[in-house]
Amino acid sequence: METKVFEPGSEIKERARIKSMEEYRALVEEANKDYEGFWGRLAKEKIDWIEPYKQVLDDSNAPFYKWFIGGKLNVSYQCIDRHLDKRKNKAAIIWEGEPGDKRIITYLELYYEVNRFANLLKNRFGIKKGDRVVIYMPMIPEAAFAMLACARIGAIHSVVFGGFSAEALRDRIIDAKAKLVITADGAYRRGKPYLLKPVVDVALAKDCESIEAVLVVRRNNEEIKWHEGRDYDYNELIVQESPNCEPEIMDSEDPLFLLYTSGSTGKPKGVQHSQAGYILWAQTTMEWVFDVKENDTYWCTADVGWITGHTYIVYGPLAAGATTMMYEGVPVYPDAGRWWRMIEEYRVNQFYTAPTAIRLLHKMGENEPDKYDLSSLKILGTVGEPINPDAWMWYFMKIGGGECPIVDTWWQTETGGHMISPLPGATPIKPGSATFPLPGIFAEIIDQEGNKKEPNEKGYLCITKPWPSMIRTIWGDDERFVKSYYSTCKKNGKPVYFSGDGALYDEEGYIWITGRMDDVINVYGHRLGTAEIEAAIGHHPRVAEVAVVGKPDDIKGESVFAFVVLKSDEGVADELEIMKEINKVIVKDIGPIAKADEIAFVPGLPKTRSGKIMRRILRAIAKGEEIKQDTSTLEDPSVVEKIIEVVKR
Ligand code: WT7
Repeated sequence: METKVFEPGSEIKERARIKSMEEYRALVEEANKDYEGFWGRLAKEKIDWIEPYKQVLDDSNAPFYKWFIGGKLNVSYQCIDRHLDKRKNKAAIIWEGEPGDKRIITYLELYYEVNRFANLLKNRFGIKKGDRVVIYMPMIPEAAFAMLACARIGAIHSVVFGGFSAEALRDRIIDAKAKLVITADGAYRRGKPYLLKPVVDVALAKDCESIEAVLVVRRNNEEIKWHEGRDYDYNELIVQESPNCEPEIMDSEDPLFLLYTSGSTGKPKGVQHSQAGYILWAQTTMEWVFDVKENDTYWCTADVGWITGHTYIVYGPLAAGATTMMYEGVPVYPDAGRWWRMIEEYRVNQFYTAPTAIRLLHKMGENEPDKYDLSSLKILGTVGEPINPDAWMWYFMKIGGGECPIVDTWWQTETGGHMISPLPGATPIKPGSATFPLPGIFAEIIDQEGNKKEPNEKGYLCITKPWPSMIRTIWGDDERFVKSYYSTCKKNGKPVYFSGDGALYDEEGYIWITGRMDDVINVYGHRLGTAEIEAAIGHHPRVAEVAVVGKPDDIKGESVFAFVVLKSDEGVADELEIMKEINKVIVKDIGPIAKADEIAFVPGLPKTRSGKIMRRILRAIAKGEEIKQDTSTLEDPSVVEKIIEVVKR
């Protein structure tokens, strides 16, 4: 654990909304004393209500908590309309395509684009409040327009990351019973056009009866197949729509969107978020953690297919009236200086990215940042996994010039927004620690009975009180919601939210995330369930049994390591061939992000007598560590030696 502490500099303190630990503690105290009063105050201050709420929190049906009962609002109004008086000509979105093409969309233009889009959804496709719309899009402004258009008419969007395969897309369409898919012909990546629409075609080839139409945005004009009567050309239709569309009056607790994420079983979970609680925290954390100011340019490099893209590219920045940047391509095209060039050109003030990207760019161009003027930067952020001190120092010194606080933000798809994070003008930071819970967030490291852990003792990272931007349920599966999040830990006898992460306090109460305690792994900042990958590999006809574990990787965070038992005694003469085929199955079922980096063909898996696979042993073997676990309780202890033999080869 790194022990260096970096205090915020005077310039950052001066401009920050929360300027000291005293101010931070005062907010924490306010929430401690009067929890509902605290959240009620923020909701009154920050949200433009159509009708005020009558009650802050309803916990009568825990853990199905409800917030801001009776309140009416519209999230697209909160993100766009209410800024028009003061900011109509301000850039809302600054977009750059990978080939270098640019678009700047002002708040007034955003208003028209979103309204036209909303009218198109309503009038042409009959999309109504509560209908599900799947968005399978590259990083182009229309992805944000589509999300906001759904919000405007009360449709529930489900954005599916463009790197997911047709099968993965199909599963999500079916689970949500979506009526419409919005996609693009394709986009640009690594200097080449790629296609998305054909993936949608494959997805819809079976079992997607709920889908009535596909709306296709033209991005790269590559040739694509057209299904008459099902496919519609966005660019042709959008110009026919009126630029005015009344926002639908939404209830605080109506669903805003679903976002599928991986858990410890094979089937992805449709995390359901609400209107008021979500937008309140998205906006508040933008202000507190990124401290965006009127003339700032803020850039988050995530993809809109992940929660970071939802909250910190689209909803948070726009609700805060900020200028948000969006970039289409990869960070290393044409070279490892692409991002730094963009920071210089657009004079970016806040920059938010993932440790895996920092490590990659560090490795590919340690001194590349020296070629650019990065002096506009004020605040740096990271998210997705713990950042190692090496990468942290490079980011801090080379990108931030030693003057920009790094906000290491811990949160999850399920939490909607930041939970644990430094405040740039207040918190003395330590490389690798997410520091302290934000005011109002009761994040605690406890044992399963709710006792707080002593310093340096690993425990369960829980959030022991509900919070407005929390997951409401898993779409269509309340039971799984309770089981996934509210069945591991209790405090004062009452179930509390367990994040799935382990963590510990240091002597000064700083929080250090130690990683997932469940079978979820983190590859390039993407969350993957080992069970999902196992299910995919299991589809290969020659595979009898499989176990997947994460193996620490310098760049990716974790790599995918698969232990495979083949059927029959045909042997593994064609080992390489089967490896390729296995990866093909993974790409088909999930997408290239889940490919196995290493596959070991082993004679058996280490199982207890009750048949449970001892993953801890496999993780140790993958890492090349000595086996410390007791193997005598295994059904066949000799299998461990045999596996080690194979892996060593
Ligand atoms: C998991 C959530 C939240 C947006 C990105 C990922 C890990 C996230 C941090 C951090 C250490 C982190 C956790 C968490 N994680 N941020 N700052 N330090 N670990 O969202 O896909 O829902 O994954 O990412 O393990 O549970 P997600």
